[in-house]
Amino acid sequence: MTRTKILIDCDPGHDDAVAILYAARHCDLLGVTTTHGNNSLDNVTRNALSVLTLAGLDTPVAKGCADPIAGVRIHAGNGHGKTGLDGTTLPEPDRTPIDRHAVDFLIDTAQQHKDELVLAVIGPATNVAMAIKREPRFAGWLREITVMGGSTGLGNITPVAEFNCWADPEASGVMYGCGAPIRMVGYNVTSRTGTNEDDIQRLKGGGRIPSHVADLLEFYLERQRQFFGLNIAPMHDVCAIVPYVHDDMLTYHHCNVQVELQGKFTRGMTVCDLRTLTEEGKAMRGSGDANVLVAVEADAPRLISHVIDTILSYS
Ligand code: BDR
Ligand code: CA
Repeated sequence: MTRTKILIDCDPGHDDAVAILYAARHCDLLGVTTTHGNNSLDNVTRNALSVLTLAGLDTPVAKGCADPIAGVRIHAGNGHGKTGLDGTTLPEPDRTPIDRHAVDFLIDTAQQHKDELVLAVIGPATNVAMAIKREPRFAGWLREITVMGGSTGLGNITPVAEFNCWADPEASGVMYGCGAPIRMVGYNVTSRTGTNEDDIQRLKGGGRIPSHVADLLEFYLERQRQFFGLNIAPMHDVCAIVPYVHDDMLTYHHCNVQVELQGKFTRGMTVCDLRTLTEEGKAMRGSGDANVLVAVEADAPRLISHVIDTILSYS
């Protein structure tokens, strides 16, 4: 595969950090934009800068929206610790964010790389929705949007809602309806695709950067045990980027996805129409047009081993 031009919109976050390091190795990482989500905007922006500093990457970082479009800002702090990236001490950032708001940077980058840019949305979709609203041509300039968000089944923050989608459902709704080709790699797949103790030990045997990642993942795994009884640390975010390096690790269903904005118990849920309906059945049963390529299965062992190998390729 040729190297994909990618921009990551994120809220680091342990799995975001892994996604950034992974993308920088395999893709042309044109920028990182930050959003509220796993922690305060200031903390996640600092975390993004520290991860890039750790890896000696000069990727520009643009700071984005501190609050969702509607509703109340709530951070996923408990899963990622008080800094948003607890578990190790990362280097002080060697630079500050660029002097351009994330929303403008997203628009500029999409325009400069028309039809080539993949936008990876691995935090709440606030910046993306703002870009879509501010520049009507934005969505049409993108090659694709790849999203870690939503789920075809269970949620993590509520029984039916995944955190990124739930943290700004209105923004997710705008994004899913924008008309760009969209790939959704949701919690149904990512919650089963994670690193275990053995993976962490492998990283510990690597150099300075893998050791930092091992310490981060040890913290994250412990929180996953504590809250979900899991014995893996799900690598949610990187799952949305791997398809641009290996296109055979996930399988999909192309279908209609809508975001629930109203329900008292279902706000932030992604309603994925996975029914097998004929054209006649679709018309009768009110199935909307397919707008999203939804991941339904992953080859988790192969995907995780490939991600660990990538992190180990850092010294
Ligand atoms: C998503 O929420 C965040 O905590 C993770 O970084 C990931 O993007 C998983 O629901
Ligand atoms: Ca994230």
